[in-house]
Amino acid sequence: MTSKFERVLLAAALLGWTICSSVAAEPAAAPRQVGRTIPSFSLQDFRGKTWSLEELQGTKATIIAFLGVECPIAAQYAMRLKTLAEKYADVGVSFAAIDSNQQDSLAELAHFARTHELEFPLLKDLGNKVADQFAAQRTPEVFLLDANRKVVFYGRIDDQFTYGIQRSKVEHQYLIDALDQLLAGQTIAISHADPVGCLIGRLLTPKAMTSGRGPEITYSKHIARILQDNCVKCHRPGEIGPFALTNYDEVVGWAEMIREVVDQQRMPPWHANPKYGHFLNDARLSDEDKQLIARWIDAGAPEGDKADLPPPRTFTVGWQIGQPDQIVYMTEKPFSVPAKGEVRYQYFLVDPGFTEDKWVKSAECRPGNRAVVHHIIVGIVPPGAKLGGGDFAGGWLAATAPGARPMVLREGMAKKVPAGSRFVFQMHYTPNGTPQQDRSCIGIVFADPSTIHNLVATKKAGNQRFRIPPGDPNYKVEANNMLSRDMLVLSLMPHMHVRGKAFRYTAFYPGGESEILLDVPHYDFNWQNGYEFLEPKLMPKGTRMFCEAWFDNSEQNLANPDPTKEVRWGDQTWEEMMIGYFVATPADQDLQTK
Ligand code: HEC
Repeated sequence: MTSKFERVLLAAALLGWTICSSVAAEPAAAPRQVGRTIPSFSLQDFRGKTWSLEELQGTKATIIAFLGVECPIAAQYAMRLKTLAEKYADVGVSFAAIDSNQQDSLAELAHFARTHELEFPLLKDLGNKVADQFAAQRTPEVFLLDANRKVVFYGRIDDQFTYGIQRSKVEHQYLIDALDQLLAGQTIAISHADPVGCLIGRLLTPKAMTSGRGPEITYSKHIARILQDNCVKCHRPGEIGPFALTNYDEVVGWAEMIREVVDQQRMPPWHANPKYGHFLNDARLSDEDKQLIARWIDAGAPEGDKADLPPPRTFTVGWQIGQPDQIVYMTEKPFSVPAKGEVRYQYFLVDPGFTEDKWVKSAECRPGNRAVVHHIIVGIVPPGAKLGGGDFAGGWLAATAPGARPMVLREGMAKKVPAGSRFVFQMHYTPNGTPQQDRSCIGIVFADPSTIHNLVATKKAGNQRFRIPPGDPNYKVEANNMLSRDMLVLSLMPHMHVRGKAFRYTAFYPGGESEILLDVPHYDFNWQNGYEFLEPKLMPKGTRMFCEAWFDNSEQNLANPDPTKEVRWGDQTWEEMMIGYFVATPADQDLQTK
């Protein structure tokens, strides 16, 4: 089997490319400035056609966009570039895109161009020579050249997408403004805006280890194991991570970006303050592993001896809960998700056909199309109950969102669904740039009632009566739930929408003591984490579960769709919620010894 990089090299050889073999790992020496002239270059597109800069140039202006085929932000902008290219085609402006990532193959480039229906050339920059010439840093990053190939603007396209954040409105359209000013013969007001996206995966040159720093850190011996244990459950084919971190050729291209997300603690996603609570699903990297990653990248990310690789991890493919006893789909026909814009939450009511009470041991929501399904909550609508606006009066059965795990209850525990109940699917879709279809479902494993000692339920401390003033950067809302019997609390899950900023659970015990159970200092709507206690927590009758939520309704909150609005309760993302969910069971319950 040939690796992806070998295939790129092979394709390059077949196409007659020459590859510079000793490219420095350091970012380009070319200064990042406007006013410099870009010397000519020539590159081949994924079809093998060669383009020189002269051939790419427009009579009035040229836009060179650096893209990467697996970078989520670059994908968001591909369609915008396509639209711009069409709009400006008749006025002497031409567009071209360059992929300089060593981890991106020609086949992936072809697929990317097809998916986004790109009509302008998409070129492969082997050995990132042209990226160095431009001193390009990230994908996406655009360079606007005038008729004399002078850089007049460079950086981000606009301010709509940031890591994990999609603003509903574009406030600064840097590229369009600069382009219009150039075409109108005006001075360019803003000639640079820092690019936001993935660092370009440049070739790295492994350095000889300097003495005194211990043994050489290699991918095979050290790094592959860390990634297997902490990243690959999401970063493998078919999972939610946008690329696989399962082989050296792929990982080395992402090395600098891995350093960035690990440093900034964006990956693995985990939002709890480590000072409070011990959780089964704690995703944090150990300090030791973080250091190994940093030292490995400092050394130029050497592969080492393949013989040192840990055996590949096997992951459960398909249902994580095992083969379900019943699968319930949200609809007969798929739902069509548009290419862009905001999609209101969709609700689908279905009858699973339960003629008797059912006991559920585990349940897993499965997105039909991971590219656009942000989250699914399946609520229970008992016979005669009304369909509530997003608060699921009958409780919920299961949910999924980035980072969330399927509901798998502990031994001897189950959720009860009354006979005649229907399910309501709440679906949140996030358009990804191309029209998509989705038909999601839930899989259920039933429990044998004779093995069940405890019934668990999702409870909450929530507050629906708040008004978050416009512009308020730190508005606090509180909620309580007084426990009326001894309970074992199994897990916690804070829920707010895009103005959610921080969340905290505190237990006030009847004896007068109190304890912070969970503190989430930087809440992130994109990741709906549940926090599962390592040991179920006993909370005696009379304990007050106290939840505090902080909201940022100012313009500092990049995800805020409208800082001028007063915000109240509502189930749409531009409205707010304040719910501290907790999954619990009565501590003294034993259904087998009634
Ligand atoms: C729970 C699933 C999950 C885990 C675990 C995870 N990732 Fe990710 N990762 C994602 C998703 C989803 C994205 C895309 C985010 C987006 O679209 O903004 C992502 C994006 C990235 C990116 C691209 C930059 C960015 O912010 O979009 C890098 C680099 C990355 N992950 C590295 C890692 C590394 C290294 C680890 C382990 C140490 C890891 N990830 C663990 C799900 C995960």
